[in-house]
Formats: sequence, C-alpha cells, structure tokens
Amino acid sequence: MIEAIYQFPESFLWGTATSAHQVEGQNTNNNWSAWEAEPGRIINGDRSGLACDWWNGRWEEDLQNAARDGQNAHRFSVEWSRIQPASDQWDESALEKYRMLLKGMRRLGLTPVVTLHHFTDPLWIYERGGWENDETPKYFEKFVRKVVDAFKDEVKLWVTLNEPNGLVVNSYIGGQFPPGKKDFRAAFKAIKNLIRGHAAAWHAIHDLQAKAMASYALYYRGFFPKNSWSPLDILATRSLKGSVNEVFSNAIEDGQVKFALYKDFIREAVGTQDYVGIQYYSSDMVSFNPFKPGELFTSRCCPPGVAQSETGFMSSFPAGMTQALKWARQFNLPIYITENGVEDSTDALRPAYLAQHLHKVWRAANFNYQVKGYFHWSQVDNFEWERGWSQRFGLWELNPVTQKRTRRRSADLYAAICKENGISSAAIRQFAPEVFDILFPS
Ligand code: GAL
Repeated sequence: MIEAIYQFPESFLWGTATSAHQVEGQNTNNNWSAWEAEPGRIINGDRSGLACDWWNGRWEEDLQNAARDGQNAHRFSVEWSRIQPASDQWDESALEKYRMLLKGMRRLGLTPVVTLHHFTDPLWIYERGGWENDETPKYFEKFVRKVVDAFKDEVKLWVTLNEPNGLVVNSYIGGQFPPGKKDFRAAFKAIKNLIRGHAAAWHAIHDLQAKAMASYALYYRGFFPKNSWSPLDILATRSLKGSVNEVFSNAIEDGQVKFALYKDFIREAVGTQDYVGIQYYSSDMVSFNPFKPGELFTSRCCPPGVAQSETGFMSSFPAGMTQALKWARQFNLPIYITENGVEDSTDALRPAYLAQHLHKVWRAANFNYQVKGYFHWSQVDNFEWERGWSQRFGLWELNPVTQKRTRRRSADLYAAICKENGISSAAIRQFAPEVFDILFPS
C-alpha cells in the first residue's frame, strides 16, 4: 500500500478567504446593497441580508473552526462604506470592530491578510460615478491611509484590490455587477482608475509601513486554444489572456495600459507589487470567432470531458492552476493563491477539486516556485454576488436563515492537509478516494 506525502515548504500559509459584503451581513450603505434591491439583478431575488452574520460576531465561530482545523492564516476584507460612511465622515467604531477581529485572529494563531477593496463601493462613491470618476483613486488612497495607519501593527500582508480585472469585466462588459454597463469605453476608464487607485494605495501602504507586503489579487482565468493546430485559435487565446489576465500586470511592469483598442500610460503604477496574488477557479478552451466583436472575436467553451460544478458555472481543470503559476513565476516574486474553490452544495466534487488543485500548487513549490500560501474560497457558504445563495463555496455549509453551520467532508480533507502541511496518501484515501490513483499512481 502506498504511503506518501507531498510536503509543502515550511511556514506555508494555509487559510480560507472571505469578503466583507459576502459574510458580514447588514451592509446597507454600499453599491451592492442598492443593486440587490433592484428587481432582477440577483438570482431568485436573493439578498445578502445577514450573510454569515460576522458583523454580529459570528466570525468567531467560523475562525475557531478554521484554526482548530489547522489553518494558520485568514484573508478577509474591510468594508469601505462602514469605515467611511460619507466623504467627510469616519466611523471609529467600525474600525474598532475590525480591530477586535484582528485581535481574535491573533489569539487563534491566524495570520491576517487584509483586502482593502473587495468589489463594493460606498454609496457616496457610487453616486459620483464609482471607478469611472477620476477622483475615486484619491478617495481610495485616503481610505487606505486611514486603515493602514490603524492596523499597521497587526497586519503585514495587504491586498489593495480584489480582482480589479474581474470587477471591470463584470461591471462594464458583462453587466452582472453594478453599474451593469456593457461599454468598452467605460471599462477602459475604470481600468485606468483602478490601476491609479492600486498604485496610490501601494505607495501609501509603503509610506506608512516600511515592511509591508502589498499587491492586488488577480482573477486568473486559464485559457487554452481549442485547436492547438490553429494559428487563429492560438491568436484568439493570446488576445484573451492579454485583455482578461494581463492588463494590470502589464501596467505594473512598464506603465502601459492596453485594453481592446485603447491605450494609455500610468507611470506611478510601475513596480507596485511585492508578491503575485492569484485567484484561479476555472479555464476555457478558446477559438477565433469573427462574428463576436463584443467578445474580442473569440468563442469560449469548457474543456472537454472534465467535471463541471453544480450549476455549470465552472470546470474542474487543474492544468489551469499550473498555467496560472507558470505565468506568475515570471515576476520572480513570492506567490500567494489568494483564492481557489468550487461551488458544490453537496460536496460531491469539492474534495477531488481541492486535492487536484493543491497537488498542482505543491508541484510548483516542489520546483522551487516561491509559492508561500493558499487561501481556499471559502470557509463557509456566503453571498455569491449576482448568483446570490444559489452557489455554495464553503468548506462548511451555512443555513442563512438559522445560521447553522454544518461541516462538509472537504473540511476534513483540508484540515488534514493544513495539519500535515502536505497532501498525504492517507488523507486522500480517506477523504478523496476518487482521485487516489491520479495523485498516487502505483
Ligand atoms: C471570486 C470573488 C469572490 C467569490 C468567488 C466565488 O471571483 O473574488 O468574492 O465570490 O469568486 O464566486
């Protein structure tokens, strides 16, 4: 019988990731609460409501579970609209609540990773045009200074923006996020202001805290040519990688901002990352399609023969994790997987998904990529944006009405991995036997 372990490097960070609007509940002063109130915006008319009730203190139960299960880190976000409810107003009591959370995490032995912007904007920012407004980066910098100044003794790892590329695609191309536009020009404006906002935040963080590690978290979508022999499919794949995955990294590399047919230059963005934050979920096969200018002349489909998530939202395609890590390695910086996970209310697919994706992370670490941590999305089911409560990403199940948490098999698997700092044959045999022969071939 095979007995083996894929061992991760020492002091690897093992955690889960959450975001304020998705777990706190009772957020009423941001663009998402307004969006949820508009008919037809969220599947089944769902609302975030109490979410996971973290604002009332239920973070303690979830993070106790996380720590008990061997996690040593947690990534969460602070809600701008709570800390700065109006342009000329700071709410110190909101900062105090986050301070309690940070203290609680320290007690539980969880290293904090703090995201400063995770999709939501205060209403006062939204009403002034959100990220299309050239003033927003300055407002964001002010907010960042306030937060970093308050927590610089507790936090070293910062995420300026969560998935700015995903935010732009969803808000200005696909229209599922507020303000629900389908407009390349508006998208380009938002891209530039998000890059400016990120750069301002990065410089502000370093002003206030010399040893900070700050970056943004990139939504990395795996793209592969549908027909590897087709030069047009290869070209289409490259163009999607450029527009979806690389707009922000290019700006950080040399200041050049290129999106669709638009171009600009933002000098202050150059060099503004201390690590590479990757959020990888799924991949597409790409082919050239001359009839789809709105999708940059591409058609996308799921990789053939791979498992789909419960609602068909994503595929389980671990090779995409390898593509993401190879891409990340070019910057020669530490790499964190700041999110990865799958929607699966019955936990039928998650154990295999988790094991296979983590195996790719291990492989990269074993080849001396500087992979320093992994954050599973998520600890507990939470409010999934325009998909409401129809998708369940938690290691733990949540009943949003009773707030009861129920452990899933994946929590056992992840606990074994975190505690052993590795993927052992015993854990896979017990909790993900369906992929045993793939991970531990005899
Ligand atoms: C990410 C996002 C998270 C979470 C996750 C699963 O793109 O950053 O907030 O919603 O997807 O849908």
